[in-house]
Formats: sequence, C-alpha cells, structure tokens
Amino acid sequence: MLATDEKISRFSAPERVVHWLAALCFLYAALTGLAMWSHKLFWLAGVFGGGPVTRMTHPWAGIFFAFVLGAMFRHWAQYMRLDDDDRRWLRNSHLYAMHREEGLPESGRFNAGQKMLFWTQSGFTVLLLATGVVLWFPMEMPRALRLIAVALHPLAAIGAIGAIIVHIYMGTAAVPEAFRGMIQGWVRPAWAASHHPKWYKESQRPSGR
Ligand code: HEM
Repeated sequence: MLATDEKISRFSAPERVVHWLAALCFLYAALTGLAMWSHKLFWLAGVFGGGPVTRMTHPWAGIFFAFVLGAMFRHWAQYMRLDDDDRRWLRNSHLYAMHREEGLPESGRFNAGQKMLFWTQSGFTVLLLATGVVLWFPMEMPRALRLIAVALHPLAAIGAIGAIIVHIYMGTAAVPEAFRGMIQGWVRPAWAASHHPKWYKESQRPSGR
C-alpha cells in the first residue's frame, strides 16, 4: 500500500477495472433477467433491443459476470477471511448501523460486513451460474433438475440483487468517500483511520501492505 501525507492507495487500477466490469455485467444481467421474469417488467426488454435480444444476451452477460467475479476473487479472497475480530464485529453490527463504530473491533482492509457481502455474492453467483446453465439448455436436462433450476434461479437473483442494493447504498450514500476510492484509487488518511484502522496502521509501517 502506498501512503503519502494526503493520500493512501486503496484500490489498484486492475482492481478497479475488474470491479466496474463486474458492476456493468451484473446490472446488465439483472435488468435483462428482470425483463424476462415478470410481464410487468417486460418493458425493460425494449431498452436492450427487444425480447429476442434480451433472451440471447442475458446468459452471456451471466457467464461474463461469473468470469469477472472469478478475477475479483483472485484479487480479494485473500483479504476476505473472517477472523475472531470479524465474528465479534458481526455479533455487534447494530453498533455500525448506529454509527457507533468505536464499540466495534477494528477493521482491516475490509470490514466484516464487506467480507460477508463478498462471500454471499460469490455463493449467489455459483448458484446463478449452475441453475442458469440448466435453464439455457432445458431440453438436455432431466425434468427434476429443470424444476429445481426454475425455482432457485430467480430466488438466487433476488438475493443477489438485494445484496447489491445494500452494497450500492453503503458505497455511495452511507460511506461517501468510499466511492472516490473505487473511482480514483485513493482515500484520505483520516477516512482510512476511521473506517479501516487496522489497515491504516499497516499503511504507516515502512513495509506497507
Ligand atoms: C453498480 C454499482 C456499484 C457501486 C456504486 C459500488 C461501489 C463500491 C465501492 C465504493 C467500493 C469500495 C468500498 C470501500 O472502499 O470500502 C466497492 C467495493 C466492492 N464492490 Fe462494489 N459497487 C457496485 C457494484 C458492485 C457489484 C455488482 C459487485 C458484485 C460482486 C460489487 C462487489 C464489490 C466488492 C466485493 C467490494 C469489496 C468489498 C466491499 O467494499 O464491499 N460491487 N464497491
């Protein structure tokens, strides 16, 4: 991690590119999926070039999203392991919601809530990919598998969309400077010290991250 007087490097360029690619693919797959899920939302298909285009591109967006998430996994899985402090953080996460972070164990590069989002999103993606492939080639699949996929694919999608709505709120309105970190790659030391104190202290050691 590079630390100067005013700036601390938060996300490298490859990390940011992968993150925003994931965001684009996810939004595309989610909106085209919603268009096919309910006739009330079918108007969304018009935005993407009509029903047939939506049906054809949705699975490819899902496949691409899974690939990009694989790259995100390679970047970040090493920082997402939950330790004892994280488990205590999660048991007391109501303090975070009440902006009383001083009562919580100090967070590293990611807090326990962010780690949970990462693992939840990874789990939903595996489920979406597996059930999505079944729905893509229904004629080649046994009936029981088709029925399971029909039930699980939308459930996993609703879970993933719900988690991302919370994530977008946290990354923009709730913790404003975080967004700049994901756009420009750096944050202020005061922000790092207040939101990710353990990570901030590491940045102050001569060897960095
Ligand atoms: C589309 C709108 C999105 C916005 C505005 C957004 C914003 C952000 C921001 C600001 C951060 C940095 C947080 C920090 O520095 O502490 C971040 C991190 C992250 N984003 Fe997103 N993101 C979006 C979509 C997504 C999607 C679709 C995924 C799918 C997997 C995703 C996964 C992650 C993960 C795993 C992290 C690291 C852990 C975390 O901060 O939760 N993001 N995002």
